Parts: sequence; C-alpha cells; structure tokens
Amino acid sequence: MAWNSTPSKWLLGLFLVLAVVAVSEAQLVDTFYKLKCPGGPAKVTQTVRSWIAKDRTLAPALLRLHFHDCFVRGCDASVLLDGTSGEKFAAGNENSLRGFNVIDDIKAKVEAICPGVVSCADILALAARDAVVAIGGTNYTVPLGRRDGIVTSKAEADANLPSFAANFNTLKSVFASKGLSVTDLVVLSGSHTVGFAHCAVMQSRLYNFNSSVKTDPALDPTFVLTLKNLCKQGDTTTLIKMDLSKSVDTWDPNYYTNVIRGRALFTSDDQLKRNSAGLSVVQSMNQSPSPFNKAFGASMIKMGRIGVLTGTSGQIRKKCNVKN
Ligand code: HEM
Repeated sequence: MAWNSTPSKWLLGLFLVLAVVAVSEAQLVDTFYKLKCPGGPAKVTQTVRSWIAKDRTLAPALLRLHFHDCFVRGCDASVLLDGTSGEKFAAGNENSLRGFNVIDDIKAKVEAICPGVVSCADILALAARDAVVAIGGTNYTVPLGRRDGIVTSKAEADANLPSFAANFNTLKSVFASKGLSVTDLVVLSGSHTVGFAHCAVMQSRLYNFNSSVKTDPALDPTFVLTLKNLCKQGDTTTLIKMDLSKSVDTWDPNYYTNVIRGRALFTSDDQLKRNSAGLSVVQSMNQSPSPFNKAFGASMIKMGRIGVLTGTSGQIRKKCNVKN
C-alpha cells in the first residue's frame, strides 16, 4: 500500500511537517553566537552606541529598518540589498529609511572579528534593540540565528508595508498575516513616540482629506494649527517630529496620550482607537505606570521571528548591501 494512502500515514506526515516548522522556529536562540562569535553581539551594541552618541536620531531610524525588513519576506535583511527593483525603492522606504551606513559599519566591524558568521538579519535585530536601549527604552534579549535572504522586491514591499492612511481592519489583517496580534500592532506603533516624519505624509490629512472636508476632523483643532504651520500645503520634504510635544529621541508612552487626544500624526495611529480591541490596548498603555516598555520588548521579539531563514537556508552575506 502506498505510504500516503492511509489516514494514519497522512497524520504522521502532517506531524512531521509541523515538527519541522516548530524546530525551525525554535532555531532562533539567545546564545546562537556564544561559541561561533562570542564578541559579535557586543560589537554590534558598541558600534550602535557610538553612532547614536553622535546622532540620537539614528535610534528611531535603526528601529524602523528592522520593522521594514521583517514585514517583507521575513527578517532576512532583504531591505538592505541594493537594486532599483528592490525594497529600498518601495513607496514607504525611498527617501525615508535611514541608517544603512550604520548597518554597513557594524557589519564591517563584526566581519573583522568573525568573518562570515553573523548575519545582516541578526545585526538588524540587535541594532534595533540596542537603539531602543540607547535612548532609554526597554532592554530585551534578542533570539538569534537568522540567515540572510538573496532576494529583494520593491513590489513585495509595496504590498506588505502598511500605509499611513490604512484603517484599523487593514492594519489588523496586515499584522495578522505576519502572526502579530492587535496588541502587537498597538504596542509596536508606540515606536511613533520617536523619530521623524516627512510633511509629504501629512498633506492629505491636512489639506485634502476627502470630498467633504479638507482637514481630517479626527485631528485636534489646535494641533491642526501647529501642523499646518510646520507643513505648508505642497511641502513634501520638511521633517517634523513624530511626537511634537517632546524631543525626537524621548522614549515614553506619550504616543498613546497623543492617539487619544487626536495628536498622533497618521490616520494609522488614530485608527488604533477606532476599534474596541485596539482602544483597550491604547488605554492600557496610557495608564501610569505604563506597561508599554515591557510589552514593547515582547512584541519586538515576536516581530523578530517573522519568516526567518535558519539552518542551511539563505546565506551569511559578507556585505549587507549585496548577496555573496
Ligand atoms: C502600524 C503601521 C505603521 C505605519 C502605517 C507606519 C508608518 C510610518 C510613517 C509614514 C513614518 C514616517 C516616514 C517618513 O515620513 O519618512 C513612520 C516613521 C517611523 N516608524 Fe512607523 N509605521 C507603522 C508601524 C511601525 C512599527 C511597527 C514600528 C517599529 C517597530 C515603527 C517605527 C517607526 C519609527 C521609529 C519611525 C521614525 C523613523 C525615523 O525617524 O527615521 N512604525 N512610520
């Protein structure tokens, strides 16, 4: 009898597939480089710290790089690969993602101590954590062992990166498609407490919202005046702080106060409170003391596991911007 002709053998096959999936997920471990490159993770931390000491705004940039990597083809450093049809040229990335030079510098320093061992994908995950810690955010242990992909696609990035104009259901389903919950969505969006946005992404909310109202009525009217002053109609290049009430590198749960008050920049931020499940997480993060920092570490670890390449899949790039 053929092996797949009985239900019990089908079940065995299914079990084996599930076991392989479980093992490949389990392959990310905190101690991955303990024997292979003991000084690797510390070299990443040291290099991130020295860059951020010179320019604190690099911290949000490095955090966002890891997010944009993980949401397209998983956390495989595909966002770093050069090529005009690659992710760097996607609408949400071009003229917007920053920090590539920091990653290249980290990679060169890590290669100098352990050639061909530490993946660019792990460097992105470690650098995001180190960046958050450098500006006073939560510390968490990064599971390691990711390998690097060899494909980068602008079209896939356009399809997978959520838009600043997205509504709650779209955001929820994009995150769900990556194995992330509404809690993860709300908690990770708390990253918008730091960093910059271009006036380009504010234009429609301020000047061209829909056919009946020019300015999004969800925005606090006083905040609208401030924003219109900073971002004039047609201005696509000026950078404004994500949290206008704080410095660009203040890591705190104030984002949630902003969301509640109609003072968060994007429709995607505002939408988090337009659904009862989202609102309850927003309110919980807005409590004092806030559970934000602890929750953030847990959600980052989850995000860092999306679609990872492990074992013998992919490669360890020698340079992060090109495949070997
Ligand atoms: C929920 C869906 C999200 C949307 C629609 C979104 C959208 C955006 C947009 C439009 C910007 C401004 C980019 C620019 O104008 O150049 C931005 C900035 C930023 N985002 Fe998000 N984002 C989302 C989730 C996240 C997540 C999950 C993280 C991190 C885990 C994150 C971290 C950041 C950071 C740190 C910045 C500032 C970057 C900088 O200063 O260079 N965002 N985001």
